[in-house]
Amino acid sequence: RDIDVPLAVRHFYHHAGWAELVAGEFPGMVPHGVCGQIIPWNFPLLMLAWKVAPALAAGNTVVLKPAEYTPLTALLFAEMAQEADLPPGVLNIVTGDGQTGAALVGHPDVDKIAFTGSTAVGRRIRAATAGTGKALTLELGGKSPFIVFADADLDAAVEGVVDAVWFNQGEVCCAGARLLVQESVAEDFAGRLRARASRLRVGDPLDKSTDIGAIVHPVQMARIEGLLARGADEGALLWQPDIPVPEAGCFLRPGLVTGAAPASVLATEEIFGPVAVMMSFRTPDEAVALANNTAYGLAASIWSEGIGQALDVAARVKAGVVWINATNLFDAGAPFGGMRESGFGREGGRAGMRDYLRAAAPETPAHAGPPPPEPAPIPQPARPAPEGIDRTPKLYIGGRQARPDGGHSYSVTGADGAVLGQVPLGNRKDIRNAVEAAHKAAGWSALSGHGRAQVLYFIAENLSARAAEFEGRLAALGQPDPGAEVAATVARTFHYAAWADKFDSRVHATQSRHVTLAMHEPFGVMGLICPEEAPLLGFASLVLPAIAMGNRVVAVPSQGGALAVCDLYQVFDTSDLPGGAVNIVTGAAEELAGVLAGHDDVAALWLAGAAGGGPVRAAVERAAAGNLKPVWVPGIADWTTVQGVAAQGVAAQGAAAQGAAAQGAAAQGEAFLHRATQIKTIWVPYGA
Ligand code: NAI
Repeated sequence: RDIDVPLAVRHFYHHAGWAELVAGEFPGMVPHGVCGQIIPWNFPLLMLAWKVAPALAAGNTVVLKPAEYTPLTALLFAEMAQEADLPPGVLNIVTGDGQTGAALVGHPDVDKIAFTGSTAVGRRIRAATAGTGKALTLELGGKSPFIVFADADLDAAVEGVVDAVWFNQGEVCCAGARLLVQESVAEDFAGRLRARASRLRVGDPLDKSTDIGAIVHPVQMARIEGLLARGADEGALLWQPDIPVPEAGCFLRPGLVTGAAPASVLATEEIFGPVAVMMSFRTPDEAVALANNTAYGLAASIWSEGIGQALDVAARVKAGVVWINATNLFDAGAPFGGMRESGFGREGGRAGMRDYLRAAAPETPAHAGPPPPEPAPIPQPARPAPEGIDRTPKLYIGGRQARPDGGHSYSVTGADGAVLGQVPLGNRKDIRNAVEAAHKAAGWSALSGHGRAQVLYFIAENLSARAAEFEGRLAALGQPDPGAEVAATVARTFHYAAWADKFDSRVHATQSRHVTLAMHEPFGVMGLICPEEAPLLGFASLVLPAIAMGNRVVAVPSQGGALAVCDLYQVFDTSDLPGGAVNIVTGAAEELAGVLAGHDDVAALWLAGAAGGGPVRAAVERAAAGNLKPVWVPGIADWTTVQGVAAQGVAAQGAAAQGAAAQGAAAQGEAFLHRATQIKTIWVPYGA
């Protein structure tokens, strides 16, 4: 009555509109094809609407598997679809349990999987789809912070807690289950919460005066009780009001836990029941540190009457959705989804539609098309660098040239087979050092778009001034058109410099009395595996959009063309690029890709060239299941292509390009900016 039905109705109207607009608003993009969708039991109709409406509006067909506890809603919905004359086969519902879900995930003719459910199953699905080329979005669990500052309207915040964690029995993925309350008001707040909880009614969910209904299933009831018992063993105190509950059935009183240490089970694990865990903090910095002390990043709720304080914390919490002085607000026009181990992809609004579309030519052929290019042979150590004299380029880490940890290098040969030089053979330790340097260079992400643009323009100028040197290097490496490649690299640098302050975030039209911001935020540290083809331009095509959007990167240049990239160190050094914003580790791409994929401090990974195909991709995507980082395979056939520019246009810039539209995914364009950012949706009170 309050959530499922009205929001589902709104969702279908909103997406009916997208069906009208999709061709014009997403030029060059097409539906994936068949979407396999798997949903949980907590909002059976709403979860269905979030999945089915955008998929159909974008032109996909759907096989949906509802949760085993709640299949009937989906079957009733199928009857409505028949009444609406949806053509047979467009929407298919298959009921069943996890095995049915796994069969859907594994089916070779499914082009995209969209899943909502537990993080554990999300990981399994990430691993199962690794290397298949299936598109994937995951909306997983959370342990979302609900932050109350001393200057908050405490009574409003108490009502917020009721909506955040006691509503729907706490069976809400974005439940504000971790109450972080400023110490000076913590006792007062806990007292008000206890008083309020004592007036909640637990019972028949069909009685409209009931606040808390039944837990979905005895299995879930046992799970919650098990977690509470473990919490009690760890010394946490559970308070529950002395209110009546029906004797039969899966009913639980609302709970407030205190005395749980930040690392304890109740403070870290998703309970998915009507239990709030309260902790206190002293300073805003401590609140942010506690809020982000979780592997999840789904939602956050911030309560303060101080606009500066609320918006400052909103910017610093790692969460896909942030509510200010509110909680659990949803709208079809507002992107919803997580960061970190809460998954990737968005549902709702423009970003949600984008996730049901792909570039016109397949990013990577899932079940047909040409075989992926052969990976380059793994370079063998040539010889340890001789003591004293060392003419090999080094790695580029933290703005300094660094010797490889192993002390090995490999030979790069030119077009005529002669050895052109030695390049360091980076290893796991070098990647770890590079990630650490990138992590420390947070100042780059904090710079304004204008500030980043200035650095990129400077890089373009310095590169241009040394064009002849780079052309010579590319010619020696046997590149077909060195002049065009260098010119295209300079042009691409100017292009992303221009974008640095123009890839605007959006304000979405959602509910009255709120502005809903969809902010483009950088991931933080990204890993980039660069293509063999066009060693300089390919490297630039990945690094530039990523850093223009404020990410710090660890890039692995192509093995064969690494020498051309090592020549860039001096360009970076003389262009005011802060140390650590771009880190370069040369070596065996597939090995280094695996290390980046498994690193918990790397938030997103792009695989280009040979690494994007076949077994390397499969291994990398499996390793990425660890912290659930998104992996993107741009699937570029020609690195000179530019979105929306026909052949002559690029040729005028010095590159022999094909029209990108005819070739599919372009090597320069907005897709790179979208993949270099994640959306944080922030709901701010506005107007009367
Ligand atoms: P679950 O993740 O196992 O189930 C969600 C859906 O995935 C169901 O449709 C299920 O049949 C399907 N599924 C299960 N195993 C699968 C597999 N290997 N491949 C494909 N599909 C599979 O969640 P479950 O067991 O119902 O609940 C366990 C816990 O997960 C809850 O206590 C809660 O903490 C969390 N959860 C979180 C949700 C969220 O929205 N964040 C939703 C549901 C559960």
